[in-house]
Amino acid sequence: MNKQEQLKNLNDRMMKCSQCALRSGCTQVVPGEGSADAEIMFIGEGPGQKEDELGRPFVGAAGKFLDEMLGIINLKREEVYIANIVKCRPPQNRDPLPEEAAACWPWLLSQIKIIQPKLIVTLGRHSMERFLPNQKISQIHGRAMKREVDKIGKQVFYTLYHPAAALYNGSMRELLIKDFKRIPKVIEKIKEAI
Ligand code: URA
Repeated sequence: MNKQEQLKNLNDRMMKCSQCALRSGCTQVVPGEGSADAEIMFIGEGPGQKEDELGRPFVGAAGKFLDEMLGIINLKREEVYIANIVKCRPPQNRDPLPEEAAACWPWLLSQIKIIQPKLIVTLGRHSMERFLPNQKISQIHGRAMKREVDKIGKQVFYTLYHPAAALYNGSMRELLIKDFKRIPKVIEKIKEAI
């Protein structure tokens, strides 16, 4: 099976998941979307209302902002992969509980293992914490870090503020755009090192 077929197979299985209570409260599972050959994988927190409605990640206001930033660095969302820590919408968009994130973790690991991105960009504190525990987003945003992840191996991470948090906060928005614009350089560096 090629990567695309593997992802399709994984998504089909994900759609039937009921490992945690989130599935009974949401409309549908939102596995993620994009290129199976993506060099960059963006990982948010979890689906919101619009995502739950449409079954696609980052399609609300935060998603429009993400698309805008991708455009600034000449990328289309079809060229990257966009996923979330949890694939089902938490009620009232509350933060996912640790047990919900833990239940969904194997799905995300499988996505990463299939795609093998050169760079994982975490969006927001909750996504950062799953991969880079005990860090402060205010200190590590915009910095590339290589970490060993169990079942994945060595992986480069780049931490960004969440687009939703930055939408209506002028200074955070500026920081996020500035960090975002550095992504091509980070990728270039990773390629040079290989
Ligand atoms: N926020 C997220 O973290 N993920 C989405 O898919 C949408 C909004």
